[in-house]
Amino acid sequence: MFDFRPDHAQDKPALYADLLAAADALTTGECDPVANMANVSALLAEYLPALNWAGFYRLIGPELVLGPFMGRPACIRIALGTGVCGTAAAERRTQLVADVHAFPGHIACDAASRSELVVPVVHEERLLAVIDLDSPEPARFDDEDARGIEALAALLAPRIA
Ligand code: SME
Repeated sequence: MFDFRPDHAQDKPALYADLLAAADALTTGECDPVANMANVSALLAEYLPALNWAGFYRLIGPELVLGPFMGRPACIRIALGTGVCGTAAAERRTQLVADVHAFPGHIACDAASRSELVVPVVHEERLLAVIDLDSPEPARFDDEDARGIEALAALLAPRIA
């Protein structure tokens, strides 16, 4: 049994340090991408407060396809350049969206979502996936969240390749 206990009283850098350590422990030595994305989705949901969706879209051929996640059922295929995920994938750049209703082309998988953070996962210059976090709170994510999830993406990239 894995028993990771996030301490939600600590500040964000400490919380992300703990999340990364847990993700490292869970994925070290495991080469199955689905298993690793599934466990990291579970960690994201446990460690990060005020989320209604956390998970992965994988680049398969010319589009993003839904991967392991925690949350309500979501749209399955997203074209590159479309919505927040497709924009992060096409530009290979983190998208920090304080108000999803103000993002042109935002795809509303869960009507409760108000803000979103999407981080590309790149390995050896190849885009593998994006990590997508949704929150029912407006402006839930800040630069510390973006840096924390980018560090997680870097750790994970060779383990989901
Ligand atoms: N809102 C995303 C779609 C994925 S769901 O949030 C899970 C987007 O605009 O790309």
